[in-house]
Amino acid sequence: MNTPIYDFVSDYIRAGRSRLHMPGHKGQSAFGAALYGIEARDITEIHGADVLSEATGIIGESEANAAALFGTALTLYSTEGSSLALRTMLALALSRAPRIPGERPLLLAARNAHKSLLYAAALLDFDIAWIYPDDTALDSVCSCHPSPDSVCAALRTLPRPPFAVFLTSPDYLGFLADIRGIVRAVDAHCGKGAVPVLVDNAHGAYLHFLEEPLHPMDQEAYLCCDSAHKTLPVLTGGAYLHFSAEAAAEVGSSARRTMELFASTSPSYLILQSLDLCNAYLADNYPARLYACIRRIEGLSYYLRTLGAELCASEPLKLVLGSGALSGEEVAALFRAHQMEVEFADLSAVVLMLTPENRPEDFLRIASLYREEAALWTKKETAKEPSLRLIPLPRVLTIREAMLSPQETVPVTEAVGRILGQPTVSCPPAVPLAVSGERLSADLLPLFLRYGVTEVAVVR
Ligand SMILES: Cc1ncc(COP(=O)(O)O)c(C=O)c1O
Repeated sequence: MNTPIYDFVSDYIRAGRSRLHMPGHKGQSAFGAALYGIEARDITEIHGADVLSEATGIIGESEANAAALFGTALTLYSTEGSSLALRTMLALALSRAPRIPGERPLLLAARNAHKSLLYAAALLDFDIAWIYPDDTALDSVCSCHPSPDSVCAALRTLPRPPFAVFLTSPDYLGFLADIRGIVRAVDAHCGKGAVPVLVDNAHGAYLHFLEEPLHPMDQEAYLCCDSAHKTLPVLTGGAYLHFSAEAAAEVGSSARRTMELFASTSPSYLILQSLDLCNAYLADNYPARLYACIRRIEGLSYYLRTLGAELCASEPLKLVLGSGALSGEEVAALFRAHQMEVEFADLSAVVLMLTPENRPEDFLRIASLYREEAALWTKKETAKEPSLRLIPLPRVLTIREAMLSPQETVPVTEAVGRILGQPTVSCPPAVPLAVSGERLSADLLPLFLRYGVTEVAVVR
């Protein structure tokens, strides 16, 4: 597969032109070897380099390569992560919805959404009706486990049809929602194509390349965003916004304009080159490397289970470990002491994210840690903590009103009865423990405590 952005920059470097344009480093390493000379590749939208917001040249060509690889009708690059792609996706879904005077637009969303959904709601001024985790969900703010049934049950309770249904899949603990089943259920309930299903697939770009593809676009999602940088070898910030044929036909022509509303006018060419090179990487036998990695993860999981470790079911590139006799944070500290850094840990779980880029010694280190530290797989002797999950709270202000109001930061113990301003999260997973505009109740205090949140921003 060709790599037009990377090739353009390589030719530009070889030509040795005087850089009478941004960026200020002029392709030179002012920091010496510290950045290994990446400045030379960091260009701006010069003649021939195309323009991300109107991509008709090398960027458009590279995006078309990505669309062909993912089997989508249209794929756009974001150099500002899924956060930007997600705002664009919501704005596009909102733009196609019928507007009824006096009625505020409503989104139906699973409650384990990333905080960037709340920023989108503030910017676009829509309301959100939440699907809360049911009793079978894991004991974590990361989990919601939306299903065709729970989505339909939620649709039945709404005062008016939503402009879209929004799901986070995979979630931080690797749960994959039945996107196809949910799309069919929403179509059956609302009329075919009336209410689009949007998926935050930040953690699942690789899912299209499985033997049985599980990517949301393979499962009939309308639009979806992937953080390429989370599971593919792309620089931080590189992401995709994928369009189904219906989405491309309905909102594709305004997609770039819409993304421009939220994006910097200086997209990173380093990130664009890494997205571009990733196409060649994916086209070059990536599925075989992915299967080999998944087999290695399955082998490791089997071995850890034989030692007595508790592993939760998850998507193939995550290892979600129960924390045994220790807390998740204590387990994370043990990993750190053995030269490993985990993705996420809370009281009851530790999440490891692995890809084909992990070295064999990474797998060996995990195995030998579990061999050496019996505490990791010894069952907890203490009684299990009471379940702490996300709870509905009374809404006083819209998300936009609350986020744009003057705010003050107070200790959580003094926040009871106050209205939440900026969303309160522990990061990762950046799932808001309460939603902007809700009145905080004392029931939330154990949740704040568990996730180490000591202060919150409340409306003044
Ligand atoms: C579920 C989820 N959605 C969206 C985002 C935002 O993605 P990005 O960091 O690529 O902007 C994240 C980031 O961690 C995430 O975990």
